Amino acid sequence: MGYNLLKGKRGIIFGALNDTSIAWKVAEMAYEEGATFTLSNTAFALRMGKIFELSKQCHAEVIPADVTSIKDLEHLLNKSQEILGGKIDFILHSVGMSKNVIKNREYTDLNYEDFLKTIDISGLSLHKLLQTAYKMDALNKYGSVVTLTYIGAQKAFSTYSDMSQAKAVLESIVRNFGYHYGIKNKVRINSVSQSPTMSSAAKIVNGFDSFYCFAGKMSPLGNATAEDFANYCITLFSDLTKKVTMQNLFHDGGFSSMGISNDVLLNYKPDPDCFKV
Ligand code: NAI
Repeated sequence: MGYNLLKGKRGIIFGALNDTSIAWKVAEMAYEEGATFTLSNTAFALRMGKIFELSKQCHAEVIPADVTSIKDLEHLLNKSQEILGGKIDFILHSVGMSKNVIKNREYTDLNYEDFLKTIDISGLSLHKLLQTAYKMDALNKYGSVVTLTYIGAQKAFSTYSDMSQAKAVLESIVRNFGYHYGIKNKVRINSVSQSPTMSSAAKIVNGFDSFYCFAGKMSPLGNATAEDFANYCITLFSDLTKKVTMQNLFHDGGFSSMGISNDVLLNYKPDPDCFKV
C-alpha cells in the first residue's frame, strides 16, 4: 500500500530493461505512490527488453532516447512535459554500460574507444541530461534527480574495470551540477551508491556471484535489493528530503563502513602460503 508520497508529481524514469532492472522497481513504486511519468531507454533496449509490459502496468508512455544524444534528450524532455502536462519534478538516471566489461578485457589491456563510450554513457550522460534540462528550464522548483553509482568509484574493485572511472565522473557531476541547479531553481541532485544487485547488467561483471555473496556477508544489514533501492529513491523524489542535495548516499546495508565481518572471517580459509616468510 502506498502513502501518496509522489501524488501530483511528474517524472521521467530511465533504464528499465526488464523486471530485474533497478529502474523497473522504481517505476512500480513511483506509480504506487501516485506519480505520473514517462519511461525511456534506447531503441535497442525497447526491442530487446520488456519495457512495454511496464508501460502498460504503470500507464506510462515510452519515449526512446539514447542518453548520450542531446537531440534525443531535448525530444524526451519536450515530449514528457507535453504528455504529463507540465514541468518535471523527478528524474531517475539508471543507466550504465561498458563494452570493456562485456568483452571481459583486463584492466591493463582496455580498448580506449570503448573506454570513452563507457565514460560517455555511464558518467557524462548525467551532465548532458542536466544541462539540457537546465537550458530548457524543464524542471520544477525543488525537483529531484537521482542517479545510481557504485563504491567502485572510490575504491579499487578488481573486476569493475572502466566503470570505476565512469562512476567517479558521475559522482563529481552530482556535486558540481548540484551547486548550479540548486542556485538556479533549488533542484536537488544526488547519487545513491547501491549494493551489488542481481540485474542483467550486473551478471555481465566477471565473478559477480561471488562478489554478491561476499558483499552480503560483509554488510550487517545484508545487500540492499532493487526493491529496497526503490523505497529509498521514492523518499528522495518526495518532499520529505527537500534539503538533501549534492550527496553520494550509501545504500548498501553498511558495506561501505566495514573492514571485516565475522561472517567473512569464518568463511575465509587461510592459505598456508600466508605464513611463509
Ligand atoms: P540494467 O541493465 O537493468 O540497467 C542499465 C540500463 O542502462 C539498461 O536499461 C540499458 O538499456 C540502459 N542504457 C545503456 N546504454 C544506454 C544509452 N546509451 N542510453 C540510454 N540508456 C542506456 O542494470 P541495473 O543493474 O538496473 O543498472 C542500473 C544502474 O545501477 C546503472 O547505472 C548501474 O551501474 C547501477 N548500479 C548497479 C548495481 C548492480 O549491482 N546491479 C550496483 C550499483 C549501481
